[in-house]
Parts: sequence; structure tokens; C-alpha cells
Amino acid sequence: RRVGVLMSGGLSCTAVGVWLAEQGVDVVPFVADLGQRVPFPPAELARVLGRSGPAARVVDLRAETAELAVNLARWQATHDGGYWNTTSGSRHTLVTGLAQPLRDAGCTVLVHGCVGGGNDEGRFHRYAAAHAPDLTVFSPWRHEWLREQFPGRREMAGYLRQRGLPAIFGDYVDYSVDGTLAGFSHDGGELEELDTPVSTVTPLMSTWPSAAREPGESVRIRFEAGRPVALDDVPLSALAVLTRLNQLGGRNGVALRSVVENRVNGTKCRGVYEAPGLEILGAAVAGLYQVMLDKAAVDLMGTLSRRLGRAAYEGRLDDPAARAAILGADLLAEPATGEVKVDLYRGTIALARVRAGVTPPGVRRQTRFAAGGHHWSTEEPALV
Ligand code: ARG
Repeated sequence: RRVGVLMSGGLSCTAVGVWLAEQGVDVVPFVADLGQRVPFPPAELARVLGRSGPAARVVDLRAETAELAVNLARWQATHDGGYWNTTSGSRHTLVTGLAQPLRDAGCTVLVHGCVGGGNDEGRFHRYAAAHAPDLTVFSPWRHEWLREQFPGRREMAGYLRQRGLPAIFGDYVDYSVDGTLAGFSHDGGELEELDTPVSTVTPLMSTWPSAAREPGESVRIRFEAGRPVALDDVPLSALAVLTRLNQLGGRNGVALRSVVENRVNGTKCRGVYEAPGLEILGAAVAGLYQVMLDKAAVDLMGTLSRRLGRAAYEGRLDDPAARAAILGADLLAEPATGEVKVDLYRGTIALARVRAGVTPPGVRRQTRFAAGGHHWSTEEPALV
């Protein structure tokens, strides 16, 4: 059987792929470009895997990654403590985006190298069941034999170094890092201890508020039905919006969020998350909802957001309840057209101005009636 191994350039997936190849498994390495900015596997990987040709097949999924991130912002779909589900969402993007390239390469098995608490395992299995039932998902870290081979990160790094693979595979820190252009997740290792301060983390997309640039910066975000369509009057794709907001948020100190989250299996873990662009988008669209949606709509959006935040975290975005919640959230977001001016200063995201783009028919702005909420005019006809 030929297996496609997802190798992002991270430590554990690379160690797993090389180890499987050494056991005689026919390994085809795949790299998904999610904008993670981690060096892709070097050319030496092909030699180590005993393959000719390029080190790995690279599939560009940056646009898909940005698209999902923008949806998560519109749905306000965060998990415990404001984690923007950047890792969780990428599992959906990986499975939907890589299934066909894997088949085209003759693979029948999808191997991922994710460790940690079973969250990612479940996500891969569920999304493959929904989108690629013909592929078998294999989660190597579930197996004792692999955990014995590699008790920790140090052993993985040493193993790869011995085989002439340079030490770029994330062994520069004592915790695990997973990232896309939507955000970076730092967890495991020393970060598990709540005593380990958040300042231990090396920010990869952002700068600490104390190092942020003076005097701050502003950006105007134009939304249509809760979807960002332009920045400072320039129409942009989701990918361009997110890239630009990451840059702005990052250098203005929209930095790290330290959370204690409830894993799918009921255990708790500590995670440190960076998602500067999503933080800004999420705050801006929430401000627009508050202006444009009526009271009951805001309330229901909150309920659906919680459902969707959990569904994204659990890898259940394709379950019937999540699909229904998405239809509902998108319907509620329809009136959210307008422009939000955001002031960024040393980590704060201030909504400086919220402008309704289209005044819905029958809405009297000065009395702040919101769209869709059935209200009546305060002006009565002069009957007598
Ligand atoms: N705890 C986060 C989640 O379950 C991130 C997991 C991946 N993190 C990592 N450093 N590999 O979504």
C-alpha cells in the first residue's frame, strides 16, 4: 500500500515519515502550503526517504485557509478563551484539499504526524469520513511502538540529524508549534505547566505590546454580509485581507492569547495562540453586528457562534447540526454590510467608527432601529 504522509516541515510528522519509510513502507511525502512559513522539507528528504525526484509534493491551500478563517470570523467561531480554531480549521482544509492529490499519486492511506491529546486525530478521521471515505486515515502516534521509538522531541530531532536532515524541524523550542497563515498554536512541552509564563513563547506572527510600533495604526475594513471585501477602499481577496491584517496586527502588538482549553476527550490543556488578523476581523465584525442586527439576532448569533466554535474545534463542521448553524449564522450576518475603522495601538483593538453601509429599507438610523427587527414607526398618520 502506498501511503501519503502529511509533512508540514514540523518535527513529529517528518520523524514519522522517515521512520515509516525505513520500515519499508512506500511513503509519498505531501506538503500543504497553508502559509505556515516553516521551511519546507529540504531536498535531502527525498534521499532519506529513498525516493527520486522532488522532496515532496507541494499543494497550495493558502486561499482555502484564508477562506475558512474569514468564515470563522463571520461566525465568531472561537473555542475556550478565544482560540480562533486555526489548527482545528486547518484539518478540514488539509483533508478536503489533499484527498485528490493523494489519490492521483496512488495513495490509499493518509498518515498525519499530529501528537497531543487526540484532538487532531479525531478531526482527521471525521473529515476523511465526510470527504474521502475511500482513504484510510492512519494516526501513528496512537501506537505504542512509535512512542517507544520517540519518547520526546529531543529523540526525534536527534534521529533526523543522524540521517543528515538539518535541525530546522522545529527543535528550536521546547514546545510544539503548528501554524497557518490564519494563526499559530504553541502548546505541549513546557507550556503544559500553567506556571510557565506566556513570555516563554517566541511570537512568530506578532510582537509583544511593549515592542509595538508607535503611534499605532488604523485600518478601515469594508464588510458585505459579514465578509471582509476591502481594506482602506481597496477591494481584496480573503487571502490578501488576512495577510494585511496579520501584518498590521502583528506589528501593533496584537499578540498572544494564553488559554486553558477543554480538549475533545475531556482533558484540559494550556495553549498559546497567535492570530492577529483574525483578532482584528473578529472584533470588527462583532462591532458591525451590534450596530446592524436587532437584539434577538445578536442573541441567536451568539448561540450559533458557540455551537460553531465547538464544531470547528471538534472537527465537526460537516455534521448536520453545524451545517444548519452555518446556514443560520450566514442568514443573520446578511445585514452586516458597512465599514469599521479600527485603531490598533499596543495590542488594543479599538473600534473607532462603525458605519452602516446600506441603510435597510424602513430603518430610521437616528432612532437606531436595526435591520430585520420588526418595529413600527413612531410617526403616526394624522387621521383627524
Ligand atoms: N490545542 C490546539 C488544538 O487542539 C492546537 C493543537 C496543535 N498544536 C501544536 N502545537 N501542534 O486545536
